[in-house]
Amino acid sequence: MASFQSYTLFSLYLILIPTSFITIDGTFSEQYLETKTRNDHVSKMTHLHFYFHDTVTGKNPTATRIAGRKNAFGATLIMDDPLTEGLEHGSKLVGRAQGMYALASQHDAGLLVVMNFAFLEGKFNGSGLSILGRNMVYDTVREMPIVGGTGLFRFARGYALAKTVHFNLDTGNAVVEYNVVVMHD
Ligand SMILES: *[C@@H]1O[C@H](CO)[C@@H](O)[C@H](O)[C@H]1NC(C)=O
Repeated sequence: MASFQSYTLFSLYLILIPTSFITIDGTFSEQYLETKTRNDHVSKMTHLHFYFHDTVTGKNPTATRIAGRKNAFGATLIMDDPLTEGLEHGSKLVGRAQGMYALASQHDAGLLVVMNFAFLEGKFNGSGLSILGRNMVYDTVREMPIVGGTGLFRFARGYALAKTVHFNLDTGNAVVEYNVVVMHD
């Protein structure tokens, strides 16, 4: 790809993403930019889209509280949540979100999120991304940094945009749409 085109795409992307929330239905991963840097090293940019299912109560919970009191400052949960291609829980599994989240704000619903996305589908099967961020659960779109990756995602950096699709206040169960943009080797 000519460098001018790459640059244009890149700038457009940076301008578009923060202002409009992108949704690409049915597409789990899409790689749309490769940039040659020093020594012909190629850096890739990949967009991932999937749904995160956090089930706290019910027959088969995938997140469990390990410390603190329910919904109180300090409450900490460990999760092993399925990531699916479509919105439905039974839709194709593309990975799992394994890690923890804790109510780390005394004043509002602010979570500390420490998790790994372990991908199980397509070319990224076996590769992973690590997320460390702050998640204000009642904000429409929350941004969390991608701090690293493994496999095809070595040297990853980027961001994840999380948008709640369903949230049941009584059960605590949630479905969250994720758009992840990552630069990697
Ligand atoms: C992902 O990789 C594992 C280990 O190589 C393999 O067993 C599994 O079938 C793969 N899954 C898919 C959906 O290709």
